[in-house]
Amino acid sequence: MTSFKALRIHQTPSGVSASLESVTLEDLTPGEVLVRVAFSGLNYKDALAVTGRGAILRSYPRVAGIDLSGVVEHSSDAGFKPGDRVLATGAGLGEWLDGGFAEYARVPADALVPLPSGLSLLEAMALGTAGFTAALALRRMLENHQDPAHGPIAVTGATGGVGGIALALLKRAGFATAAITGKPESGAFLRELGADEVIERAGLDLGRKPLEKAVWGGAVDNLGGEVLAYLTRTVKPWGNIACIGLAQSPALTGTVMPLILRGVSLLGIHSVQVPHAWRLALWGQLAGPWRPAGIEQRIVRAVIGLESVPEAAEALVAGQARGRFVVRL
Ligand SMILES: NC(=O)c1ccc[n+]([C@@H]2O[C@H](COP(=O)([O-])OP(=O)(O)OC[C@H]3O[C@@H](n4cnc5c(N)ncnc54)[C@H](OP(=O)(O)O)[C@@H]3O)[C@@H](O)[C@H]2O)c1
Repeated sequence: MTSFKALRIHQTPSGVSASLESVTLEDLTPGEVLVRVAFSGLNYKDALAVTGRGAILRSYPRVAGIDLSGVVEHSSDAGFKPGDRVLATGAGLGEWLDGGFAEYARVPADALVPLPSGLSLLEAMALGTAGFTAALALRRMLENHQDPAHGPIAVTGATGGVGGIALALLKRAGFATAAITGKPESGAFLRELGADEVIERAGLDLGRKPLEKAVWGGAVDNLGGEVLAYLTRTVKPWGNIACIGLAQSPALTGTVMPLILRGVSLLGIHSVQVPHAWRLALWGQLAGPWRPAGIEQRIVRAVIGLESVPEAAEALVAGQARGRFVVRL
């Protein structure tokens, strides 16, 4: 191939701009494995990069897209051969490495995971970083003794990619779940994903005291700020809060009272630089015992082309996510 399509982000004197353009392999950051990309997905982080609303890319121009699935064309690493089906999430793609919003990507071998049997290339990207992160949160909560008997798990940013898949995984793992959302009109969608209860965020009494009445067994938080502070005040003794996102605010406020008087744990969730063995194990879980039911029907909002990515990214930064956009290359 001589040239191929990519969505590249440029920094110009007037700000960041995304453009669909023709590039060559030499334009891409190096990597041992050349992948013909089949699908990518749109995460909140991609939306920040494409719209220029967040400092995600480390240098310009850069192909955005933190996730990809596809087929190996060529590999100088003995672990992969042409025809292998693979996926990659995070690992620097779409940040300091050229990412998945292109027909081809050069990927470091240690960023790649063989596509587990039980997932299609499309399903892998319907899950993408969102699904991987939700799985990492569940794993860390279980490792820290979260048990369904502790009570329901509150999930914030519930209509988003991470939130929606977290509901599905938690439900499948036997937990009762409560979706805390800014879109109460999405109640039916959230219940179908796995929410037992749907709570409108605007109607929540956030409280002010260091400890409020403990109602949640644990929580998965995608918002940060005031909502995260509320969760620390209302999680029951020995519950875990998986801290994933900052869709509302990067602020972490509150007191140590919940930690020292209730044994509440804040679990840091970081999906980018993850030990390879964890990646393999978590994708194995997502393709097997934790596989959400009806991935295409319930989680995919739309399959879009590269040209539609900027518009979809605007919707995500405006908080209008409802399921996942999958990008077909
Ligand atoms: N730690 C990690 O490694 C990691 C990995 C993946 C994602 N994240 C972070 O986790 C968060 C969720 O990611 P995602 O990909 O699931 O995002 P998404 O699909 O865009 O969903 C975000 C959801 O957050 C809620 N929200 C509330 N206020 C918002 C606001 N001001 N702007 C945007 N959304 C708002 C909305 O849900 P409701 O309307 O239902 O409330 C929205 O659907 C983001 O902050 C992302 O950066 C972190």
